[in-house]
Order: sequence, then structure tokens, then C-alpha cells
Amino acid sequence: MTQNNTVTVTDNRTGKAYDFPILDGTTGPSVVDIRKFYAETGMFTYDPGYTSTGSCESAVTYIDGDQGVLLHRGYPIQDLAQNCTFLEVSYLLLNGELPNREQFQTFENAITMHTMVHEQIHKFLEGFRRDAHPMAVMCGVVGGMAAFYHDSIDITNPHHRMIASHRLIAKIPTIGAWAYKYSVGQPLTYPRNDLRYASDLLQMMFAVPCEEYKVNPVLAKAMDRILILHADHEQNASTSTVRLTGSSGANPFACIAAGIASLWGPAHGGANEAVLNMLTEIGSVDRVNECVKRAKDKDDPFRLMGFGHRVYKNYDPRAKIMAQTCHEVLEELGVKDPLLDVAMELEKIALEDDYFIEKKLYPNVDFYSGIIFRAMGIPTSMFTAIFAIARTTGWVAQWNEMITDPAQKIGRPRQLFTGSTQREFVPFDKR
Ligand code: CMC
Repeated sequence: MTQNNTVTVTDNRTGKAYDFPILDGTTGPSVVDIRKFYAETGMFTYDPGYTSTGSCESAVTYIDGDQGVLLHRGYPIQDLAQNCTFLEVSYLLLNGELPNREQFQTFENAITMHTMVHEQIHKFLEGFRRDAHPMAVMCGVVGGMAAFYHDSIDITNPHHRMIASHRLIAKIPTIGAWAYKYSVGQPLTYPRNDLRYASDLLQMMFAVPCEEYKVNPVLAKAMDRILILHADHEQNASTSTVRLTGSSGANPFACIAAGIASLWGPAHGGANEAVLNMLTEIGSVDRVNECVKRAKDKDDPFRLMGFGHRVYKNYDPRAKIMAQTCHEVLEELGVKDPLLDVAMELEKIALEDDYFIEKKLYPNVDFYSGIIFRAMGIPTSMFTAIFAIARTTGWVAQWNEMITDPAQKIGRPRQLFTGSTQREFVPFDKR
């Protein structure tokens, strides 16, 4: 970070001027350093939804929303999705560089050796209702991990932080798959250390003890790519939640549980589930126009799920790769899904419509993922859970960066108070 200039803010009430440093990163918009704003002006800044606020310094992920660019540690998402495995990308996010073969081997072994969860977690899981949403189960079980792994929750100890990071990345597919198995009443499937990360996730979700499960390499590759596309995305709602939770010194398992809770919302990770529900509701190509009309109506709360993004004002680069993967998977499996026709028609009409053009609303990563998941036999309730499995790696990388940042402080936003000022207490019989 460098500082070469300042910005001057004048309070028109008093005519007093204040200078604040402009900080430049390596690329992207500069920021105004307002850390001393309150001390100097006696005012807070106001930015609900943080549309103009940088919350931290980060070197993990860069997005240029206008150009539709996404870089992890400087590498374009297209290159990573094309040439890497998910665990290579995880190593990159955590360590800042792509691993050489030896480094990768060591990392993959470390992750593989941590895939099993404490056997007592079986009993913990059995406390949930069978119809519990997998995200509710994951949120609870991941939060509860701190009770099982006491030996890795000292956040001041770098070794503890590393072990906790490996455990989270390694165990989250097991927890996600078990949440699914529990909901369908099938025996929980243990991880298999002869399988790679994405294949093992599929095996844990779909294998049953009564027959041999063979991983379809096309599905394993598609799953690996989906995991890469969801691995990290800068300071979005769930990542910021992880950082804010961690800023108080909370243990990493609690922080990731908080991230899962935030991701669950339909405006964030829950959108992939919402997209499929929406496409199912539309049902056929001839009803697409009617639905686009509803999405544009200010009096109708309906939105086109899988469209729009806070940062991308161009085509989400992940959505392009996702659309391509969708076609590949459906072709390979010989699946003809009418919902794909609905999705393609919806995309075509929306991209030509003035409302969507003016507001720069393009398909996002969630638009096509649901159709791929459906073709793979993954139930709708697991869509967001798979997003959470992938994003755990990004959360963990961002949490580690935060903990080691010397500028890190407990997150404590302020407010513009518009409630009642001090008033006299009224006893019960006088209210
Ligand atoms: N359909 C119809 N209109 C929309 C949509 C949409 N999907 N998204 C935004 N708009 C309109 C919105 O009504 C507003 O119009 P106006 O300026 O007239 O009030 C304008 O576009 C700007 O929208 P906003 O809600 O102020 O933008 P935001 O940055 O706060 O919200 C968003 C971004 C992703 C929450 C929103 O676009 C949305 O709700 N999209 C649908 C849900 C979705 O697909 N979410 C997944 C995001 S990508 C995965 C992830 O990162 O988690």
C-alpha cells in the first residue's frame, strides 16, 4: 500500500477543512483512509450495505466488476478453472503462490489425512430432524467443531491456525455429505483417502454400502471446476461475516459457521437454489416473457434470481465458465433438461432488455450451477451446501490474512441514531 496524495473534506457548516490520506493498492480503486475521521471531525461516515467502504487490506482476490475480471493471487479464474484442481487453488489462496509438485503433494496429503470427523459427530448429527436443511446442519456442526478440536483453537499460535485451516477444508465435504445422507435416511459414508477431493465428495454423497460406487470422471471434473469457481470472491457478505466474527478473537470454527449462516441467504449463496425453484416455476420457454415483465415491475417483489451482482456490472466471468460446464455435463450425461432451455431463453431475453442493460444486470455464477447440479443428481437443498464447501477455502484464507494483519482491530461499525432521545421512564400503570 502506498500513500501519494490526500483528499480534502470541508464541513460547510464551519468552513473547516480536513485532509485525509489517499491509499493506493497495486490495482483497482484507491481508498480514502478515514481511520481518523471521527477523531478529527467528530462525525461518522454513513454507508449502509458498505457500497463505498473498504473494510480491510487484502492480497487474496481481486475483482474488476466493470471488466468482468476475477483474479486469485493475480491468476485469472479462467486459467485456474482450466488448468488446476480445487486443492491447487486452495493452496494458492492460502499461501499466495501456486504449489510446485512437492508442495502440492504435502498439502494434498495433509488435507486427505484430516477428512474424517470425530466419531461423536454422528451423535451430534442425530439430534437434528431428518428434514433439516443441510445448511442448518452444517452451520451447527461446524460451529460445534470447536468442542471437538480443542488442540487447534489458539488463534495466536500459527501451528494451531494451520491445523484448523486444514481441518476445515478437509472435513467440510464430509459434514456436507453427511447432512445430505442424514436427510435421506441413508447410512453415513466415510471419506475415502484413495479419492481426490471432488471425487470423494461425490462418493460420500452417493455411495451406499450395498453396491460399489464408481466415480464418473466427467462429473468429478465438473464438480472440481464448480468448487474452483466458488472458492473465493473478495469481501462479499459471508467473507466479511467471517472476518467480523474473527475480529473479536473467536475461534476459526465459530467464524466459518458464521460464514455459512450468511451464505445461506437467497441474495447470496442461497441464490442457486432460488434459481432452480424459479426456473421450475416458469416451467416452459413461452412463460419467460411474463417472468421478465414481473422482474421489472417495481410493485412486484419478484427478482430474476441468478441475475445481478453488487460488484459485476458486466458478465460474471464465473457464469461464462459455468454455462460452458453446464453444456458439457448435460451432453456427456445425455441429459435433455427443459429447464436449460428456459434458462437460455431467459438469459437471451434479459440481455436484450433495456431494463437489464441499463441496470447492468448480467447472469451471475448461480445462474447455471443449479442445472448442472440437477443433472448430476444433486438435490436442490444441497446446492448452497456445495457452495459453502467450496467457499470454506476462501473464508479460511481470508481469516488467516486477517489474523496476521497488524492493522487488525475488532470490527465495530457506528450508526446514525434516529430513535428517541433520553426521556423519563413511565411506570407500568401509567403506560
Ligand atoms: N432482477 C430484477 N431487478 C434487479 C435484480 C434482479 N435480479 N438485481 C438488481 N435489480 C435491480 C434493483 O431492483 C435495483 O433497481 P432500482 O435501481 O430501480 O431500485 C437495481 O437493479 C440495483 O439493485 P440493488 O438491489 O440495489 O443491487 P445490490 O448490489 O444491492 O444487489 C444482488 C445485488 C446480487 C443482491 C441483486 O442483484 C439480487 O438480488 N440478485 C438476485 C439474487 C442473486 O442472484 N444473488 C446471487 C449473487 S452472486 C453469488 C454470490 O456472490 O453470492
